[in-house]
Amino acid sequence: SRVVKLAVIPGDGIGPEVIAEAEKVLDAVTAASDVVFEKTRFSLGAGRFLETGDTLTDDDLAAIAAHDAILLGAVGGTPGDPRLKDANIERGLLLRLRFSLDHYVNLRPSKLFVGAPGPLAAPGEIDFVVVREGTEGPYVGNGGAIRKGTPQEVANETSVNTAFGVERVVRYAFELAERRRKKLTLVHKTNVLVHAGAIWQRIVNEIAAEHPEVTVDYLHVDAATIFLVTDPSRFDVIVTDNLFGDILTDLAGAVTGGIGLAASGNINPDGAFPSMFEPVHGSAPDIAGQQKADPTAAILSIALLLDHLGLSAESARVSAAVEADIAARSAARTTAEIGSAITARL
Ligand code: NAD
Ligand code: IPM
Ligand code: MN
Repeated sequence: SRVVKLAVIPGDGIGPEVIAEAEKVLDAVTAASDVVFEKTRFSLGAGRFLETGDTLTDDDLAAIAAHDAILLGAVGGTPGDPRLKDANIERGLLLRLRFSLDHYVNLRPSKLFVGAPGPLAAPGEIDFVVVREGTEGPYVGNGGAIRKGTPQEVANETSVNTAFGVERVVRYAFELAERRRKKLTLVHKTNVLVHAGAIWQRIVNEIAAEHPEVTVDYLHVDAATIFLVTDPSRFDVIVTDNLFGDILTDLAGAVTGGIGLAASGNINPDGAFPSMFEPVHGSAPDIAGQQKADPTAAILSIALLLDHLGLSAESARVSAAVEADIAARSAARTTAEIGSAITARL
C-alpha cells in the first residue's frame, strides 16, 4: 500500500479543535483504501513560543520538509498580546514555512454550496478560485523603519515582484482556467502601483497569447471587492498578488457562507517540497476552546490535500459529504458534531 507521510500542525486557538475533525474525516475516507497516512504531530505556534521561546527552529523546518504533505490548523495568539511581541508567529512560522517550502501558489477556492448561509439576497452561482501568489509581494519583509518612535519616523514595506515569481504563478492560473470555465481575471492596482502593476499586466498579456481559449479580464482591486459582492458569478479564476489575495479571500469566504467554510492549499507545484493545506481562517481566539468553530474549512482542506496527492476519488467523497452536510444544516452544532456528521456521510 502507498504510504503518505503527513506533518500535522494543529497550532493555536481553534486550530486543534478543527484539525481533530479534519483528521476524523481523513481517517475515515482512507480506512478502506490502500493509502496509509503516517502522521507526525508538530507542536508549533503561540503556545509553543510561550512555553519554550521557539517559533520554528531549523530542526523543525527540516523535519517538516521531510514529509509528503502538511496539514495546518491555525497559528497565532490574540492580536496585541504583549507576551507575543517577540514571537513573530505569523512571519517566523507561517510565512517561513510558505517561503522555505516554495509555496508559490496559494490556492483558495470559493464555492457557494446549496444551503450555505451566505449574506447575499440573490448570489447566483458562485464558483471561483483565487490563485494568490504565495512567496513575494509585500510579504517578503523587504522593509525597515528609521527614526523610530519620532515624529520623523519613516516606515517602508517594499513589494517584491520578480518576473520569475509572477510568471510561474500566472502560468499556473492559466492552466487552471483551461481546466475550468476558461476565464481569468487579473486583480491589481495598476493605476497606482505602476511598477508592480506593469509587470503583472505584461506577464498576463504574454501568457494569454499561449492560451487563446482563455478570456482575460482585468479589475482594480477596489472594484473587484464591489463585484465580489454584487456579481460574484462573473469570476472563474482570479490571479493576484500575495496581499490582495489575502484580503480578497476573506471577503470571498464571507460571501460564500462564512470564513468557517473557506479552505486553502499552499502549493509547491513542482513537488520539490511538501505542499501545505489549511483553512483560510486564523486561530479565532474569540471563540477558542468553546467548540464553536466550524471545522468545515479544515475538512475541505483535506479534500484539497487528497486531490493534490492524486487521490481524486477520496477527495470527491469528502467534498460530497461536506456538500450534503451543508445542505442539511439547521440547528447550531458543536465543532465535533459537525465533524462527526460529515464523517458519518462518507
Ligand atoms: P480569524 O480568522 O482567526 O478570526 C476572524 C473572525 O472569524 C473571528 O470572529 C472568528 O471567531 C471567526 N472565525 C474564524 N474561523 C472560524 C471558524 N472556523 N468558525 C467560525 N468562526 C470563525 O482572524 P483574526 O482574529 O484576525 O486572527 C486571529 C489570530 O490568527 C491572529 O494571531 C492572526 O495572525 C492569526 N491568523 C492565522 C492564520 C493561519 O494560521 N493561517 C490565518 C489568519 C490569521
Ligand atoms: C492567511 C493569514 C496569513 C496571511 C497571516 C496570518 C500571515 O491571514 O493565511 O490568510 O496573511 O497570509
Ligand atoms: Mn488572511
